[in-house]
Amino acid sequence: RKIKMSEIIERYKDKVSTLPKQESWMNNHVYKYQGFWYHQGFWYHSNASFSVEAIMATQDDFKAKPTDVFLASHPKSGTTWLKALVFAIMTRTKFKSGFSSSSTHPLLTISPHDCVPFIETESFLNNPAYANGLMATHIPYNSLPESIVSSNCRIVYICRNPKDVFVSYWHFMNKVRDNASASIKLKDVFEMFSSGISPVGPFWDHVIGYRKASLERPDKVLFLNYEELQKDANNEVKKLAKFVGYPFTEEEEATGRVEELINLCSFEKLKEANKANKDGDETSNVLSNEFFFRKANVTKDEEKSRKEKMSEIIERYKEKVSTLPMQE
Ligand code: A3P
Repeated sequence: RKIKMSEIIERYKDKVSTLPKQESWMNNHVYKYQGFWYHQGFWYHSNASFSVEAIMATQDDFKAKPTDVFLASHPKSGTTWLKALVFAIMTRTKFKSGFSSSSTHPLLTISPHDCVPFIETESFLNNPAYANGLMATHIPYNSLPESIVSSNCRIVYICRNPKDVFVSYWHFMNKVRDNASASIKLKDVFEMFSSGISPVGPFWDHVIGYRKASLERPDKVLFLNYEELQKDANNEVKKLAKFVGYPFTEEEEATGRVEELINLCSFEKLKEANKANKDGDETSNVLSNEFFFRKANVTKDEEKSRKEKMSEIIERYKEKVSTLPMQE
């Protein structure tokens, strides 16, 4: 049954009205529910809403099956990439022509978000993709619908350097904000983000919840890093495939299937496939698929780059130093 959003807002009106409230990023408020901040009232565009009512409705209505796989993340941590990778892994025998340019693979034409729906936005919107056993969520671990944990479902969490998450989030929010509202200033929201006040924040608590779960239930919760995935995609993707129950065979590995799959899900490929605003017209504020592909950079570790600089300087003056008088 397709449940109307207005019905859900109405259903949780009283509950929401008792929650702590705080000024937030978009000239509106966030509400604290079970330790995390959320927008209220389905926000500005319906298909990207992680509103507090959506979380409550998901907790009340969503029933997981033991075979379901969930991809969890804090927004802007690599959700889209993870969705593409796991979708490609789990469907790789279905799309016979493989990943070549003549392939009919869905990821070449549709957004990873249409292949793997979010439970909190789609479970009550009747998305046809929502039944194939692979779903995503931004809900913090301790607020997940009870059946996900009690049914022992597998969960993959992706974590990213907070600096890159924050910058990515800020750019994203400015793209999707209501035309009428002023652009969000980085310095205004930096303090908020740092003190934990951001939609689906505090960031750190989000990460810690899943990190702890992955240590306690390693066979059910896999914890991945965006940076590690960039650095060693081959190893991480093989690990991922094994965890979700679709390991690569020796033959697949030998014939380059892992690399093909990584290439299909690469930032460049997905960005190209999602160029056109397929979700709506340019003038409306409907979330555009291309908003999910910006730069995909990894901020360099400062300590590491400092060390690199030092060794460059040592190298530069090595010969000069070698000519100097020396003393014990
Ligand atoms: P940047 O804004 O830093 O470029 P999410 O999918 O969780 O919303 O995260 C979006 C971030 O992931 C964006 O980061 C986006 O560019 C990056 N991203 C999207 N697709 C990617 C891919 N295939 N590989 C690596 N990064 C990707």
